[in-house]
Amino acid sequence: MYRSHTCGELRASHIGQEVTLAGWVQRSRELGGMTFLDLRDRYGITQVAFNEEWNANLLQEARKLGREWVVQIKGEVIERHSKNANMSTGDIELKSSHLSVLNASETPPFTIEEESDGGEELRMKYRYLDLRRTPLQRNLALRNRVNIEVRKYLDQEGFMDIETPFLIKSTPEGARDFVVPSRMQEGKFYALPQSPQTFKQLLMVSGYDRYFQITRCFRDEDLRADRQPEFTQIDCEMAFVEQEDILNTFEGLLLHLLNEVKGVQIDNVPRITYAESMERFGNDKPDTRFGMELANLNLLTQHLGFMVFDQAETVLGIAVPGAASWTRKQIDRLTNWVKRPDIGMKGMVYCKVNEDGTYKSSVDKFYTQEQQAEWAKACGANSGDLILILAGEERLTRKATSELRLHIAEEMGLRNPEDFAPLWVVDFPLLEWDHESKRYHAMHHPFTSPKPEDIGLIETDPGKVRANAYDLVLNGNEIGGGSIRIHDRALQSRMFDLLGFSKEEAEKQFGFLMSAFEYGAPPHGGLAFGFDRLVAILGGAEVIRDFIAFPKNNSGRDVMIDAPATIDETQLNELKLIITAETNE
Ligand code: AMO
Repeated sequence: MYRSHTCGELRASHIGQEVTLAGWVQRSRELGGMTFLDLRDRYGITQVAFNEEWNANLLQEARKLGREWVVQIKGEVIERHSKNANMSTGDIELKSSHLSVLNASETPPFTIEEESDGGEELRMKYRYLDLRRTPLQRNLALRNRVNIEVRKYLDQEGFMDIETPFLIKSTPEGARDFVVPSRMQEGKFYALPQSPQTFKQLLMVSGYDRYFQITRCFRDEDLRADRQPEFTQIDCEMAFVEQEDILNTFEGLLLHLLNEVKGVQIDNVPRITYAESMERFGNDKPDTRFGMELANLNLLTQHLGFMVFDQAETVLGIAVPGAASWTRKQIDRLTNWVKRPDIGMKGMVYCKVNEDGTYKSSVDKFYTQEQQAEWAKACGANSGDLILILAGEERLTRKATSELRLHIAEEMGLRNPEDFAPLWVVDFPLLEWDHESKRYHAMHHPFTSPKPEDIGLIETDPGKVRANAYDLVLNGNEIGGGSIRIHDRALQSRMFDLLGFSKEEAEKQFGFLMSAFEYGAPPHGGLAFGFDRLVAILGGAEVIRDFIAFPKNNSGRDVMIDAPATIDETQLNELKLIITAETNE
């Protein structure tokens, strides 16, 4: 028996018992004739004491141990003199009587404690050591808990877990595919799924009317804090449902998770349309934990002599609560922030709503006190608030104001990670005009059904057609998205036309799905949650990397195993791939 208890288990009630622990030496402290070790495993840390008076040899052995050595220690649980209320085992320590070294360790390249001194790259290289740290263990434990709760809920709701293949061909989710060359079929390639989309729709045709899968998806796209090239979805599909059934089922899942995992009770998930979300928040995944909603000030600011506003397509304001007292320097800093190239504004106008009922703005020359009072009313500003105004081209200004709103909220600590504000955004546009390729793209994916009442517009004004598509947003992050699907061959075919596919291309890529629609396809729809994002947000973070055991770095590399890597000549020949010396360095 290697151990009788874990390092997180012993309490005052164990005092007097003989126990055996096994784990890693996190650190040791020498104090005169004594040495104290912190012994760690994934359950916690237990302090082990060695004393010259109890056993001088054992003390000498203990003093030879280095950080991260793996040891087994026997001893008696005793009461601790100076108790540590911050540790679950802080009331006791182990009075050692026997020590065996199970394995020695090199000195680790960084400290393996709650806070590490290692840089990002180094910790990624030694991911297996970083994973020993409590914060990462906590994150993976949370991930496991969420996974189990998802399965419990979906099982109760009658969903069946069905696996779909990884070696497939292109699924259009808007990113590039990762491809895998086939050895047996020379010159041919599989694509890894960007999602199981087409397969889950085929399962509906097959009659598995409630499907789910917690599965890996692969997308070759630029990485960000909330994106990995391989990530996990909770992928779901249902047949014989309308949008309402889907929203109810999956907000049920989110509320179940919030309740079971975080102990947070929320009764329902508000819904807003895409159009309203853009209007009020300037983006389609609003953080609704705080106000500062966007107000259109065109009518209240234009044609009164201030050129910047007069010439702008849009003038937008937000009211920052309690910020009328901000100094010139604070406001200048924000002005510089909105001028950054990634925000792209030329400047920012401010208007202070003073406690005494007066207004002080950077454009006092052009606007009267009464006019400024109108702005305050439109922005919902109270006395003591600060109104910030951006102006310019509509799309850019709306985006910049939205970013400014988030930036200020972040700085003011209004984005509390322990507050949860879920929200459905519904009625997304079906199509999105791509200025570069000068054609429409499916905003969600090409299998998304238009709203029946908008079908007429497909021929006359395709950009105005709304889709039966919805996103689930949590604290300003898109944690899921889905749609009611097209289940009719003719409409699906028309959709491919609209997206610029020739008949042949559509047939070649998606002929199998359109054929399936001819054999009794039921009405169906579904959604997929981004599992990594969901877990990260439940864990109070927005960077998903630390909620994935072995993630890729910012350039899509696994620096620990050194992937991607070149392959040898024989393999290349076998796959009939020709690679120039230059690319195969
Ligand atoms: P979508 O492309 O919106 O929909 O993806 C669903 C959810 O997956 C998460 N997600 C990601 N998470 C981490 N890294 C990435 N690179 C990444 N890309 C997406 C997001 C997103 O909301 N087949 C459809 C779903 C459906 O229609 O049922 C789909 O994949 O949280």
